[in-house]
Amino acid sequence: MMPTSNPTGSTPKSFRRAVSELDSRQAEAIMSPRFKGRKQSLIEDARKEREAAAAAAAAMAESGDTLETLVFEEQNGKAIVNLIFTLSGGKTASLSRTLKVFETFEAKIQHLESRLCKKAPSASVVTDLEYLVRCEIHSSDLGTMVSSVKRVCEDLRSTKEDKVHWFPKRISELDKCHHLVTKYDPDMDLDHPGFSDQEYRKRRKMITDIAFNYKHGDPIPRVEYTAEEISTWREVYSMLKNLYPTHACREHTDALGLLERNCGYSENNIPQLEDVSRFIKERTGFQLRPVAGLLSARDFLSSLAFRVFQCTQYIRHASSPMHSPEPDCCHELLGHVPMLADHTFAQFSQDIGLASLGVSDEEIEKLSTLYWFTVEFGLCKQNGSLKAYGAGLLSSYGELIHCLSDEPEVREFDPDAAALQPYQDQNYQPVYFVSESFENAKEKLRSYAARIKRPFAVQYDPYTFSIHILDNPHKICCSLGGVKDTLQGLTDALNMIS
Ligand SMILES: [Fe+2]
Repeated sequence: MMPTSNPTGSTPKSFRRAVSELDSRQAEAIMSPRFKGRKQSLIEDARKEREAAAAAAAAMAESGDTLETLVFEEQNGKAIVNLIFTLSGGKTASLSRTLKVFETFEAKIQHLESRLCKKAPSASVVTDLEYLVRCEIHSSDLGTMVSSVKRVCEDLRSTKEDKVHWFPKRISELDKCHHLVTKYDPDMDLDHPGFSDQEYRKRRKMITDIAFNYKHGDPIPRVEYTAEEISTWREVYSMLKNLYPTHACREHTDALGLLERNCGYSENNIPQLEDVSRFIKERTGFQLRPVAGLLSARDFLSSLAFRVFQCTQYIRHASSPMHSPEPDCCHELLGHVPMLADHTFAQFSQDIGLASLGVSDEEIEKLSTLYWFTVEFGLCKQNGSLKAYGAGLLSSYGELIHCLSDEPEVREFDPDAAALQPYQDQNYQPVYFVSESFENAKEKLRSYAARIKRPFAVQYDPYTFSIHILDNPHKICCSLGGVKDTLQGLTDALNMIS
């Protein structure tokens, strides 16, 4: 989803050197003053969402409306709430009387638990126990039910951290993950190279309509690209391909060869998303889904949890082949897709997605930053040399040269540091993170993800393309059964070959 970066702003020596070696048209294209030094980032989107949510919460607190903080999850007019209360001696100290309230409102109790109070009970409380009820109720009845429960018990409360953002549990629910961020598209952005080109805007709308109408399970409609679009692709493809042997990681160059042989990748052809999606699905289980533009960070990361990559299908404006302020098919097909054909990288990408499900806006912002410094702008070590694996590098001629020059600072990949590292969306990154290997990066990411606060764990079921929520011992035991079967199969295989 991240676009190619661009070569404006200060131009490093190595970059100027490389440009001087190009023919005049290519050099002009790269150095054109039309290019604005900026690129879309999930991080900025995530930050805006977090700030908006904080503002809404502050407004709600000011108005005295606290119902929202009780809701654990809300869908189809039903809310799931966690209520904690104690029984008072001043009133009829009856748990059954309290539960009767839930029954009256036809609340479906999913969990009932008594436990020791965390704080010292007040004098009016009859026991040192508190009760936790998790129930599903019609959203419209929630306020009245809470008032009724308050009348028969003490200290009714919930905890803010119990609120979990909605997230898709089945792959078909990605149809609901379509929150677009309109920021750098040609209809809204005066600086977009295609802003004053009515034909380009019309063409782009035609292609993005495919994404708006797309539903999970549909084949991705093919686009008949025009001669001008293919010419733009050719320019990007040929220039980047010259750099890949020396600058791209082995996984990228290997996969690009396969894509050329199997999916119509060539200078003269823009590959079709449906063909590419089928190919990488057979390799790693990842598949593509057409998207109309920039998705919200939460929706984009959710898709990764299902091994679905949201992929734009339109191409950048012909006047600006070396830069697009937004993601386009050059960035996706040349930067992201080859990497998604690698097993370990695919798992790494899915792990970021799984870590994002239901977490707070603050954590989404950190994960987006982590995504930025790995999937978009990551470097790795191979045979003692640095190589690029981030899609923002592999789809940008200028930054691909810059990232391996002696200009930027390189640091060992540390998820905790990367998640908080200030990023640059107006120029090249001044700092890159280097992974020892994808396996090593994956292990570090898992350790990071395990420390994210969430009242449950998640597990992806590749048979049903769904997310299992592990929030009680029974569910964990059920999942363990599958692990035992797998282990048994591997043990049998070892015995057989030995
Ligand atoms: Fe991207």
